[in-house]
Amino acid sequence: MSHTAPSSRSAPLRARAEIDLAALRANVRALRARAPRAALMAVVKSDAYGHGMVPCARAALAAGATWLGTATPHEALALRAAGVESRIMCWLWTPGGPWREGIEADLDMSVSGMWALEEVTAAAKAAGRPARVQLKADTGLGRNGCQPADWPELVAAARTAEDDGLVQVTGLWSHFACADEPGHPSIAAQLAVFRDMVDHAEKAGIEPEVRHMANSPATLTIPESHFDLVRTGIAMYGISPAPELGTPADFGLCPVMTLAASVALVKHVPGGHGVSYGHHYVTDGETTLGLIPVGYADGIPRHASGRGPVLVAGEWRRVAGRVAMDQFVVDLGGATVPEGTEAVLFGPGDRGEPTAEDWAQAADTIAYEIVTRIGTRVPRVYLNEGPEEQAHDSHDSHD
Ligand SMILES: Cc1ncc(COP(=O)(O)O)c(C=O)c1O
Repeated sequence: MSHTAPSSRSAPLRARAEIDLAALRANVRALRARAPRAALMAVVKSDAYGHGMVPCARAALAAGATWLGTATPHEALALRAAGVESRIMCWLWTPGGPWREGIEADLDMSVSGMWALEEVTAAAKAAGRPARVQLKADTGLGRNGCQPADWPELVAAARTAEDDGLVQVTGLWSHFACADEPGHPSIAAQLAVFRDMVDHAEKAGIEPEVRHMANSPATLTIPESHFDLVRTGIAMYGISPAPELGTPADFGLCPVMTLAASVALVKHVPGGHGVSYGHHYVTDGETTLGLIPVGYADGIPRHASGRGPVLVAGEWRRVAGRVAMDQFVVDLGGATVPEGTEAVLFGPGDRGEPTAEDWAQAADTIAYEIVTRIGTRVPRVYLNEGPEEQAHDSHDSHD
């Protein structure tokens, strides 16, 4: 794909997460090409999986996303407060949630059960205008959503609320359990249940604007799941939703986040020297240690102690001993580098650095968790914010 390297570099910081918005825009275009008949909802919950909600939302919209998706209503309201005008859907409600604010902010609000429908219709009455709601079906995930047995009651109540001018059902939707395992029997089963539940709602008179089920892995591997809209999160951030099926490049994607830190101290130590809490690493012989000033308070998983990879001066080094709250150590094997040298924990991989997927493997988790947990103490530095062509041109001419 036509990913550009960053067009500008920032001054050295303790640590920074560079967010390449040209890569994000290219990923959105690649995903739209995978689902050409569907609209694209950019899922920007959890601060855009740690990448920064508002800049990523704007970049996704610039590249052709027409919807934004968040989990909580507060995230959706924050987008509106920032001046974002696109359709915004939010799906994780609890009793007493800000329904009226959601109505007044023109949010599309998910309803999974009768309690939510009752609260949203009461809020619509108070607001004096109808609420846009999307009914969520539990087609087999067993998490949020309305069970098939309870669906007729929810649909009938939603129809009555429509007739009363209190709601407009804009969508019918569901979520997969195992979309990252192509051929898993639950995929076909969930699709069949979804079709039945949509059919029931439409026969009852619901006229949804959008029907949708697909997350990133479904968008990439299950075309029959695309319906009217696909909801992509992780793939938009350039991370493979199913590493065993393909790398980001295999799916035409490029990782958006690069996490780097400035080496804080380099020193010679003798053999037999314990390193970091618990002395789980002891130097083999005389060597040099490099201090990397990020830790689990910054989202570096303590589970990756002894394993997490870091690129320092062209060499992969591993976390030596435990990751602490604010720092960890790498064994530089006798090499010396100046303090202030850039240590790259992860990035796209095209400069030889590890990827978020490498950290996921080191920490026995998924790359979703690696990027999403990068903490607020790490500044996000946005690259290639400007119009696509300019960013590409200015980079390419110096490449
Ligand atoms: C309801 C819903 N839809 C879509 C997504 C996006 O999933 P992915 O990041 O795999 O694209 C999520 C994220 O977990 C979600 O909760």
